[in-house]
Amino acid sequence: MATLTNDWPAFLSAEVAADPNAFYRRLRAESPVHWDEGLGGYLLSRHADVGAAYRDPAFSTRNYEERLEPVFGRSLLQMDGSEHSRKRALVTPYFRGKGLTKWEPVIARNIAAILDRSVVSASDALASRFRPGDTVDLLAEFGNYLPVYVITDMLGLPHADYGRFFAWYSAHIDFLGNLARDPRIDARGRAATAELWEYLTPIIAQRRAEPGEDLISALVVAEIDGETLDDIEVCTHVTQILNAGSETTGKALASMFTHLLEQRDLFEAVRDDRSNLTPAISETLRLSPPSQMNGRQTAAEVQIEGVSIPPGSLVMLLMASANRDERRFANPDSFDPSRTDLNHEKAFTASGDHFAFGFGRHFCLGAMLAKSELEQSSSVLLDRFPDMRFAGGRVPTWAGLKMRSVESLQVTL
Ligand code: HEM
Repeated sequence: MATLTNDWPAFLSAEVAADPNAFYRRLRAESPVHWDEGLGGYLLSRHADVGAAYRDPAFSTRNYEERLEPVFGRSLLQMDGSEHSRKRALVTPYFRGKGLTKWEPVIARNIAAILDRSVVSASDALASRFRPGDTVDLLAEFGNYLPVYVITDMLGLPHADYGRFFAWYSAHIDFLGNLARDPRIDARGRAATAELWEYLTPIIAQRRAEPGEDLISALVVAEIDGETLDDIEVCTHVTQILNAGSETTGKALASMFTHLLEQRDLFEAVRDDRSNLTPAISETLRLSPPSQMNGRQTAAEVQIEGVSIPPGSLVMLLMASANRDERRFANPDSFDPSRTDLNHEKAFTASGDHFAFGFGRHFCLGAMLAKSELEQSSSVLLDRFPDMRFAGGRVPTWAGLKMRSVESLQVTL
């Protein structure tokens, strides 16, 4: 009797991690709703299906109760309906319009401070600042710092504690990316939350007593229609904001410079005409989204592409795959900021053409802040280092499955 063989590699295998885009291309063509035993869930890979799932309330975020709540507390991501709208409305004003403009000088100050290294060590700031001709790792020495400094400034927390913030959010990122459920990684994530919340509790009490201009103060006094936030909710928001805005933004910056330096003419086009910068950022987010997938849990039975998914199933929305769907984008694997099938302005709003910031009700709260940080920092780097190139001509390597970017970005400035 013939035996049916399943020749699909496991999603969580080294083979897929080595080249996820090849796996996604095959999924889109042959198995757009794909069951993966190791994950214990379904993979959705086509643009139309991922977009529909983001919009459909049958794809709930209840999975975050298990995969996020242990380290974030009950965050916006797992809420829905009016609870989500009410709680999100308390923080939205600080991330758009005038509320966002207020942080622009904070971003500019932090870019300058990192390049001068005055934030790393005041004593040797002048001796070691970034200079043309130096070789640096733009991810580790710049991209990893900027978003954390900006967010900690917004929250009114000291830069001197950068090492602790970095350790805490790294443990949280590892927890979220722990699709294989390694118990040691889970334990480290939970321990990081315990430490972070112990650190935050007296600060929140102090801001309640004497509110300042910072975001923690804004959160403790925020009130809309009688809705306020208790201490645990403030800790949850701070944990989520610190986490959601840090690794993603730094990785996006490094990925963009990698794509630009790979095609020198594009680097020069952006350097010489800054109207090309926003398209380069949004095309980077399409081709190489830092966060490559979002999980959902079906609240009811759903039918997609002729496949029935039972209620209570884990479904992974593969944004990285949807963003390269040949049904939606021409030449989807090429980096082409001048492509006409992507509206670059809309890329940072909830009606964008790609899913780097998600889609629907949980669309990224910080997309405009990320845009501002990426635009400002790229512009300063291009002004100061017009001859930037890969150090030794070495093209960086990409790594990661849930979060993905270049591992490091060694450049000669
Ligand atoms: C390039 C940078 C960024 C990327 C690629 C990114 C990506 C995402 C994605 C994909 C989601 C949707 C998650 C889901 O639906 O399950 C999301 C949500 C969110 N992001 Fe971002 N993000 C970035 C920057 C930021 C920044 C700077 C902040 C804030 C400081 C932030 C705060 C949030 C929050 C609070 C949510 C949850 C919103 C909700 O549930 O209503 N993000 N982000």
